[in-house]
Amino acid sequence: MQKIHTVAELRARLADETTVAFVPTMGNLHEGHIELVRIARARGSCVVVSIFVNPLQFGPNEDFDKYPRTLEADCEKLQGLADVVFAPAVSDMYPEKQTIFVEPPPIAKELCGEFRPGHFMGVATVVLKLFNLVQPQVAVFGKKDYQQLAIIRQMVIQLNLPIEIVGAETSRAADGLALSSRNQYLSGAERTEAVFLSQTLRGMAEALKGGTTDYAALEREAGAALAKRGWVVEYVAIRSQKDLGVPGQGERKLVVLAAARLGKTRLIDNFEVCL
Ligand code: PAJ
Repeated sequence: MQKIHTVAELRARLADETTVAFVPTMGNLHEGHIELVRIARARGSCVVVSIFVNPLQFGPNEDFDKYPRTLEADCEKLQGLADVVFAPAVSDMYPEKQTIFVEPPPIAKELCGEFRPGHFMGVATVVLKLFNLVQPQVAVFGKKDYQQLAIIRQMVIQLNLPIEIVGAETSRAADGLALSSRNQYLSGAERTEAVFLSQTLRGMAEALKGGTTDYAALEREAGAALAKRGWVVEYVAIRSQKDLGVPGQGERKLVVLAAARLGKTRLIDNFEVCL
């Protein structure tokens, strides 16, 4: 496995590769990330993992500065799985002040986008830059960040990028909490409580499968249940898997999504439901 820090070195290393499978990350890797790398391994002869905490996707009051940076430990976890780890400096990814951006589709202003203005523009812009650098045939993203995956899929179609996007299932802790680099911000008591988010969404998914049709009431009740336990709820929403729009009548492929804060930590989760 090769560690590469500059764009010039990356281009030289990948020049003769024919099937590159790519996993973009911000590092601090956990089992969820590693699972994506395993999927990439099965899809490409050369597996590239990028590790870059992208300043463009963090808001002014978000955790860019304190986001955990653990490059050495990350590289150890990727040993024997990835061929190339690309960990560029900010100055390599942004050689001059970024004034050209990918304007994401309208859905980027809803759900997480309502609470993180500019976030998905930052994500779409850096992912397009990484795609241009790595030029992969396949790229793997987690369903944990469902809205991100949906926006990347739309970007690839609408910008005619010759890349197959693979969506990977969410990896969870034994109690059901979705794995996330941000889970380590949780105190002991918060970690115990955190499982309630996935339980609540699972409960909504079961209710939908059981035939409940009043989506607004389900969203309201779930939000109230979380708030009662001390969560600060950003949204709980039932949407269509296809485009994350509000589901029309008879829509059978749904996804239940939520974002809520526990103390200082913002958690997101979702479950797909097929009726
Ligand atoms: P990051 O949060 O590091 O996540 C990297 C990839 O791992 C994303 O595709 C994310 O959906 C996936 N992932 C994280 N936790 C997961 C879990 N529990 N199960 C399955 N997949 C999981 O997402 C980003 O970085 C950035 O926005 C990035 C795309 C790299 C652009 O900067």
